[in-house]
Amino acid sequence: MPTPLIAPSILAADFANLQREVELLNRSAADWIHVDVMDGRFVPNISFGLPVCEAIHQHATKPLDVHLMIVEPERYLSAFAKAGASTLSVHLEACPNLHRTIQQIRELGCGAGVALNPHSPVSLLADVLGEIQFVNLMSVNPGFGGQKFIEHTVEKVRQLRAMSETIQIEIDGGVNLDNAPRLLEAGADILVVGSFVFSATEPEEVIRQFKALS
Ligand code: DX5
Ligand code: ZN
Repeated sequence: MPTPLIAPSILAADFANLQREVELLNRSAADWIHVDVMDGRFVPNISFGLPVCEAIHQHATKPLDVHLMIVEPERYLSAFAKAGASTLSVHLEACPNLHRTIQQIRELGCGAGVALNPHSPVSLLADVLGEIQFVNLMSVNPGFGGQKFIEHTVEKVRQLRAMSETIQIEIDGGVNLDNAPRLLEAGADILVVGSFVFSATEPEEVIRQFKALS
């Protein structure tokens, strides 16, 4: 198994010390910084938006992986690209014209990802897999950090891996050092980790432990 990419979620960081938290991730073995944008409509919670994304970008030396949990994400793609997104993922459940939205992300020069809620089968992605860089398989219902991992996600990773050998599979929600080996064995490539990293006394050491899981 190749070494996984680790994308700590800034949602679990201390927002009053955002610069310090971003610098911690810069120093760490993390590969991407996962940025969770929530609008209080697609999900029942509001996190932060463009100015915070820009502020993170000013200090980050690692690519920003922006996860848009918002309705009508196509209206904000260019603004988030300008705010520093390297990759942008939109929810299949929020995009009636998903193919077009993916093309818009690619035209902006960002890596395109599609996120899938726990209730959506991976088969719904069959006709766009050739157009995107990665799938964000949600392993919790989106909206909050610190939720319990939904075990069925491991089976969805297997199904998705059987559909494509090359697509990058990102897992988002409730990831820890206990379920990560199962996810990687099933074919996952990118692990988003929020509370498990930021609630640790030594977040950098925890990130190192994830990186050692190859
Ligand atoms: C959930 C977010 C996740 C979350 C992950 O809506 O998309 O990225 O921040 O955090 P943990 O690892 O705490 O579940
Ligand atoms: Zn996320």
